[in-house]
Amino acid sequence: MSARAEGGRAPDARARRLDRRVYLRSHPALFALLSATRHRPLVRLGGTVLVHGPRAYREVLTRVPLDRTAEHTTGGAAARLTEGGLLFDQDGAAHREARRALAERLGGPGVARLRPLWQRVLERRLAELPGPLDLVPVVRELAGVTAAALTGSPADPSALARAAAEAAFAAAGEHLPSLLPRRRDAAAATGRLTALLPDPLDAMVAVAAVNTTVAALPRAAAWCARAGRWPEVSPELAVELLRLTAPTPILPRVAAADATVAGCPVRRGDRLVLVARHAAEAHRAVPEHPAAAAQAVFGAGPHACPGAALARAQLTDFLAALAPHRPRVLKARVDRRSALPGYALLLVGKG
Ligand code: HEM
Repeated sequence: MSARAEGGRAPDARARRLDRRVYLRSHPALFALLSATRHRPLVRLGGTVLVHGPRAYREVLTRVPLDRTAEHTTGGAAARLTEGGLLFDQDGAAHREARRALAERLGGPGVARLRPLWQRVLERRLAELPGPLDLVPVVRELAGVTAAALTGSPADPSALARAAAEAAFAAAGEHLPSLLPRRRDAAAATGRLTALLPDPLDAMVAVAAVNTTVAALPRAAAWCARAGRWPEVSPELAVELLRLTAPTPILPRVAAADATVAGCPVRRGDRLVLVARHAAEAHRAVPEHPAAAAQAVFGAGPHACPGAALARAQLTDFLAALAPHRPRVLKARVDRRSALPGYALLLVGKG
């Protein structure tokens, strides 16, 4: 693949370079290792297997039995956050039942009910444009309002979003492979969240929804501004920007049984680092497998993200509300205290 095909048109190449900094700076050693090894679908490093290829990624999520409560996995972190038995760490009939309950809240009618709430936040907060305006607190409020409505919580939306972010950051030290330091304040951060959301399922949904949204929306807006794509804003552009930024770049999992993936053996107990960013072909301007790449951002199989439609609708509305102002990025600072790569500050304005 040519450098042009990888980077795309020149303004997109610049937007990609700057977005890549967010991703690399959050966990430099881990992400540099992943970038260096991405040309092989599977790379074994002792008991750890890096899974880069789109086919291999899908195979693991749909065919390989996974130990959903193992340490250093999303399910394991969720189990400790919520005392277990909630979606990420569930399997079989109990998991299907939990998904059905959530589908009612996150399906088409659920999204239609929530939409006016986040649109009101956008209308009020973006009235400050042409700015300068920091988009991070705007998205935090939008995510908090959505999470509060989803869970029926009376908590202040921005406080709820902050508590969900801190609990996720504290858990991330345990959840990502051991290249990252462990957090000692995990219990306190979880306590602050459960004080606001006593129901463990509510707490888990808030963590899943808030952290992805707060990471994804500002990165997509920054890309749009830097690449001059405001005139193109549409639901399709939202899907493309989610693929290009891949907000949850890796999914840490553990194999529960021996299996073969992309022709290579995987052993029970192997730590699997599923690189969603590479399965989504985020490094390519034009993906080779567009449908699979767009889905990879949200996982695959029985645990695939149930909030995908909500996330796409929020990003579409966020970009559409910004587009008439055609804001430029005036200043950006990467967040070093977030579970997912994102901004602590994204100041936009006329420039
Ligand atoms: C850009 C935004 C988002 C991204 C990139 C994202 C990505 C993901 C990914 C990769 C997974 C794991 C899938 C797998 O294991 O196959 C997941 C699971 C999940 N997500 Fe999302 N997500 C986003 C937004 C949301 C929102 C807004 C909600 C809720 C309102 C949500 C709720 C969940 C839940 C509950 C799960 C666990 C599902 C299960 O284990 O059965 N997500 N998400």
